[in-house]
Amino acid sequence: MTIKPIITLPDPVLRQVSKPVERVDDDLRRLLDDMLETMYDAPGIGLAGIQIGVPLRIVTIDVSPHEKDDGEDGAEAKEPKREPLFLINPKIVSLGDEPSIYEEGCLSIPDYYAEVERPASVTVSYLDRDGHEQLLQADGILSTCLQHEIDHLDGKLFIDLLSRLKRDMVIKKFTKLAKQSGKPTGDTRRMVG
Ligand code: NI
Repeated sequence: MTIKPIITLPDPVLRQVSKPVERVDDDLRRLLDDMLETMYDAPGIGLAGIQIGVPLRIVTIDVSPHEKDDGEDGAEAKEPKREPLFLINPKIVSLGDEPSIYEEGCLSIPDYYAEVERPASVTVSYLDRDGHEQLLQADGILSTCLQHEIDHLDGKLFIDLLSRLKRDMVIKKFTKLAKQSGKPTGDTRRMVG
């Protein structure tokens, strides 16, 4: 597996609309494995293909390291297990009515975080890495992460959901520091994808 460089703001590639995958084959699975490794290394909990310059509708997600272990009382804290999700051609089927707010970050916008309101629950259809159709209903951080990553496939970034003033400030800052490649710090309250 190969760790790929992550494209950052203000690279216009991030604004491209990604194309649907037509064939789920070994080449695609290798690419998904590279994305997962790149995501874990960053570290982040979600990554879209376009963030490594591949304009295909593919996403990797693993929210497990950011969630507390729900072990029984007295049980020793366990190392978080890796629970990767591979989503090919993910599509939002429905969104819940209730809003929720997470402080979001993005591997393509290093070291910048802001509170974003999105629907608290989402239902997503997708193909898994074997090409089988799946339906996933999610809430909590997984709901936010799914919406954030699917936005990437349409060339949208979470800063688009902020006020114009905030968004312009971020873009200006990253245009100035275009060469910087800082990494977001880990934080259980944050959604970095
Ligand atoms: Ni992102």
